[in-house]
Order: sequence, then C-alpha cells, then structure tokens
Amino acid sequence: MSKKTNIDPATLQQVFGQTVFKTLLNSIPENASIGSSVSTFQFIRHVEDYIHVEVKKLYSDAEPPKFHFISETETDMVMDYQSARCMSHVCLGLIEGCAEHFGESVKVEMTPQTEDSSVVRFNLTLA
Ligand code: HEM
Repeated sequence: MSKKTNIDPATLQQVFGQTVFKTLLNSIPENASIGSSVSTFQFIRHVEDYIHVEVKKLYSDAEPPKFHFISETETDMVMDYQSARCMSHVCLGLIEGCAEHFGESVKVEMTPQTEDSSVVRFNLTLA
C-alpha cells in the first residue's frame, strides 16, 4: 500500500490505528464494562490487563503486544511497547484514537529500544 500511495508505512500504520480504535471499542459487548475507564491512561492499562488477555483466550494464534508499565503520575505515563510484529505506529494511532475518545490531549514521544523497533518506549504527557 505504501508503494501504491507513496505514503510511508509508519504514517499508514498510524492512521490505521487512529481509525480502527472506534471499531475495536464498538466491538466490546455491551454487558462488558470498559473497565470503568474514564481516561486514556486507565484504558491503556485495561487493554494490557484485560482486553488483550481476552483476545488471546478467544484466538489462540493471536499475538497482541505486551505493555510494560515503567512509571505513571496524573499527567505522565511511561511504558514499553513490545511485539515481534514491530507495529509501534499502529500503537501510536490507537493511543491517539483512545485520547480522542476520552476528550483528552496526549502528547506521545516514541524512543525505539531495539534496532528492529520490537521494543519502543512510549512517553505520554497529558496536556
Ligand atoms: C489504547 C488501546 C489499544 C492499544 C494501544 C492497542 C495496541 C495494539 C497493537 C499495537 C496491536 C498490533 C499488533 C502488535 O503490535 O503486536 C494490537 C492488536 C490487537 N488488538 Fe489491541 N490495542 C488497543 C485496544 C484494543 C481493543 C479495544 C481491542 C478489542 C476490543 C483490541 C484487540 C486487538 C486484537 C484482536 C489485535 C490483533 C492481535 C493478533 O491478531 O495477533 N485492542 N493492539
């Protein structure tokens, strides 16, 4: 797709993540809570602790990423994204879609921790 559109793969991944967030959120059954999350940071933790765990139970061959939480305050969250799929820009887009859903403005800085970007540190700052 990148070759056909002349848009770099990272941007395509990011836009995909931004737009697919709403679809994923709407796919959560109505009787399942979204973990009483009221903020982007809470929801990201809920994804790691609950949603991606359920994804793995439902689809045994699924490989959602791991999030390692490093630190968190009211305004800052530091976490490492880890995945052999190396799709950290999908993660960026999903976080942006999530922030939009909660009506928050979140600045995201990404620092690759490995050459192949299978581990990327995310510094999130709430404006
Ligand atoms: C802030 C919210 C979320 C973030 C940051 C996030 C992150 C990601 C990323 C980056 C991937 C791509 C694969 C990879 O990098 O290894 C992924 C895969 C996936 N996520 Fe999430 N996710 C979020 C919310 C959700 C929600 C709400 C659902 C479902 C209700 C969901 C279900 C899935 C599924 C089914 C996959 C595909 C796994 C596979 O086929 O191996 N995610 N997620």
